[in-house]
Amino acid sequence: MSIRPTAYEFFAGGGLAGLGLSGVDTLFANDMDAAKGRAFVANHPDVPFRLGDVWSLTSADLPGAPDMAWASSPCQDVSLAGARGGLEAGRSGAFWGFWKLIQALAVEGRAPRVVVLENVIGLLTSGQGRDFAAVCTAMVRAGYRVGALEMDAAHWLPQSRPRLFVVAVKGEAPETTTPSGPFHSPRLVAAHARLPQAVRDVWAWWSLPVPPRRNQDLAALLQPDDAVDWLEDGEAILSLAAPLHRARVQAAVASGVRTIGAAYRRVRVEGGRKVQRLEIRFDGLAGCLRTPAGGSSRQYVVVCDQGRARVRRLTGREAARLMGVSDDYVLPSSESAALKLMGDAVAVPVVRALAQGLLSPALNSRRAAA
Ligand SMILES: C[S@@+](CC[C@H](N)C(=O)[O-])C[C@H]1O[C@@H](n2cnc3c(N)ncnc32)[C@H](O)[C@@H]1O
Repeated sequence: MSIRPTAYEFFAGGGLAGLGLSGVDTLFANDMDAAKGRAFVANHPDVPFRLGDVWSLTSADLPGAPDMAWASSPCQDVSLAGARGGLEAGRSGAFWGFWKLIQALAVEGRAPRVVVLENVIGLLTSGQGRDFAAVCTAMVRAGYRVGALEMDAAHWLPQSRPRLFVVAVKGEAPETTTPSGPFHSPRLVAAHARLPQAVRDVWAWWSLPVPPRRNQDLAALLQPDDAVDWLEDGEAILSLAAPLHRARVQAAVASGVRTIGAAYRRVRVEGGRKVQRLEIRFDGLAGCLRTPAGGSSRQYVVVCDQGRARVRRLTGREAARLMGVSDDYVLPSSESAALKLMGDAVAVPVVRALAQGLLSPALNSRRAAA
């Protein structure tokens, strides 16, 4: 019999959570998006995958008794970047479809000892904090101790990508008595203070080692200049930059040192009217990958060298690298499908760090107790 821990992966997308949970056998995975499902199956041919709405599943569809359940539930409704309907609204309500299954497993004596919910930071404040309270309360009522970490992929990868990981554990796991370190952010501490007393009574400040300083920047992940398509209207796109950003580009070109920037087009209100702006960063990081919905949300790469500035789109393969995915991962053939897959995903090294520092000790303590 296998002694490796087992897991279910809900809202699995292309299966990046599973890539980070190495050493864990995934018994079952689910997602409702057919294109993502194809990517999942291509990259995880041995994992049983079920395409369909989580609400359509029952516990009879779920094999075995998992040690852990992972849920990267859809974030659009709570994203700080989008409209905020909260978990009860629209697609984010999918969390409750997942939770219904956890409750059914508990009735059958098959509840996982560890549950992880990955979401955007907006979950801390959506619905004036009611969504976060509802999630934590559901977990506490089901007999878990609950805690959360705000983890930015930028600790591991050249991408700014803060995400919230709510971790529910039955048993022991590394924790500190008070909030500490980068993963207990001020906004998490503030959200904790707004939680109901019954949740705070059993709350855990889960502890995770701080990773060594990242030693790779965006330039290291880019495809060769001659393997990508440069935009012919690069000048026009650069002209959308605000004066400060344009000055940075000019300084980079004048320096004679090859300098890489990452940029998004955003609508800003200036002098009472909406204007399109190109916002460029030269801090060695890509901006947070998003799903492309309309041209404005695809990320640009700005390369300053040879006395000029050139502009191109970030490629799907580069997006995969920015999520910590190795080049043998099979991406969808269409660029937009590849970018959608990666823009929605969870960064692999973040999952790996969480698994090694917190989830494995929690699962091992369960084995020790069993
Ligand atoms: C934030 S993404 C998670 C992606 C995944 N962690 C990865 O690494 O690729 C949310 C996923 O939930 C899926 N989804 C949304 N609503 C769903 C539902 N009701 N049932 C099943 N899957 C759903 C979407 O198709 C999307 O792939």
